[in-house]
Amino acid sequence: MDKLRLRLVKKIDDSYDIIIGNNIFQDIAEGLCSLKLGKIAIITDNNVNVLYGDKFLKLLKSKNLNSFMISFNAGEKNKTRKTKSKIEDVLASQGLGRGGLIIALGGGVVGDLSGFIASTYMRGISFIQIPTTLLAMVDSSIGGKTAVDTEKGKNMIGTFYQPKRVFIDINTLETLSDDEMLNGLAEIIKHAIIIDEKFFVFLEDYVSKILAKDNNVLVQAIKWSCNIKKKIVENDETEKSLRKILNFGHTIGHAIEKASNYQITHGEGVALGMVAETKIAFEMKKINEREMNKIISLIEKSGFNIKLSKIDIKEIYDNTKFDKKNKGGIPLYVLPTKIGRVEADLEVKEEVVLQVLGGMK
Ligand SMILES: NC(=O)c1ccc[n+]([C@@H]2O[C@H](COP(=O)([O-])OP(=O)(O)OC[C@H]3O[C@@H](n4cnc5c(N)ncnc54)[C@H](O)[C@@H]3O)[C@@H](O)[C@H]2O)c1
Ligand SMILES: [Zn+2]
Repeated sequence: MDKLRLRLVKKIDDSYDIIIGNNIFQDIAEGLCSLKLGKIAIITDNNVNVLYGDKFLKLLKSKNLNSFMISFNAGEKNKTRKTKSKIEDVLASQGLGRGGLIIALGGGVVGDLSGFIASTYMRGISFIQIPTTLLAMVDSSIGGKTAVDTEKGKNMIGTFYQPKRVFIDINTLETLSDDEMLNGLAEIIKHAIIIDEKFFVFLEDYVSKILAKDNNVLVQAIKWSCNIKKKIVENDETEKSLRKILNFGHTIGHAIEKASNYQITHGEGVALGMVAETKIAFEMKKINEREMNKIISLIEKSGFNIKLSKIDIKEIYDNTKFDKKNKGGIPLYVLPTKIGRVEADLEVKEEVVLQVLGGMK
């Protein structure tokens, strides 16, 4: 027997900058001019296209950057393999080569889909994120998770593929709806609860200003939140350990979204999920009453509904068993032990979940 060993010990530097500012489209365009790029494909959805896409494309063209735009219909329902392959065909017919660049201009749907396309198109080409929702700014544009949904579940097929840069232009939030602001806020609050008590105190003071889109407060909150996400990803890029803590509020949150037939938004689901999981932590004597009440009041004060009303509790519980982050059918929870600290990989008894959910009616 002969043996040849193909050695592939990898040391890759995938570091990148996250740039946060006001009205930075012009700077982005100028920055692109200095990189000797091939073609540039801007991928966006139809809403963002109308608001910022055309303007951005014109700007790139005015700098003689060889660019074109692809827009697909907005919404999670289009984060699919079908949309992916349609876009790939356009990229190929436009002659986007390996030296080209994909720019994701939009919310998390655009970012996840474009990142996935960039990771497989010609075995991987460069891409940049320009997130335009609060959620995408503080969460989905950072960390390199890309995916599309299938009928069997959300984010079923995807890759870890980091962008070359993330540009956050706070001014794009001017057109974002209140509901979408709340979606992002839920993840911001989550970041504070899991790892940063000081940030939590900041949010207690300034949450209403975030929702009112006060520029200074928004910049601070976004910067703080991105820094938390960045540190977690630096520590555990592919979610083998620390990154799991970002799932706080999501085991019950996803289950609620599903039980409501997605009438409840992701942010509302996560808010309810954080309340439920904090109450579970209290029942399991992991967190004290004072800290629990502070968490719940911040969530309530932010404008989230913290009652389950008509949603079927047994259905929520059953849905948790199909959570992606489970071990042999048993969902594993991330529970707070105090503000700024959580414990991961915890099993919770059925009766505790049902009792807590029952109390939230
Ligand atoms: N990759 C990750 O780590 C990660 C993390 C969290 C969520 N996600 C994914 O992110 C997606 C959700 O992202 P989202 O909440 O940004 O949703 P989204 O991309 O659907 O955007 C929400 C809506 O806002 C519109 N919009 C975007 N920017 C706007 C602006 N500036 N002004 C007005 N309207 C604007 C969009 O057209 C859309 O209708 C989900 O698919 C989720 O799975 C990914
Ligand atoms: Zn989330």
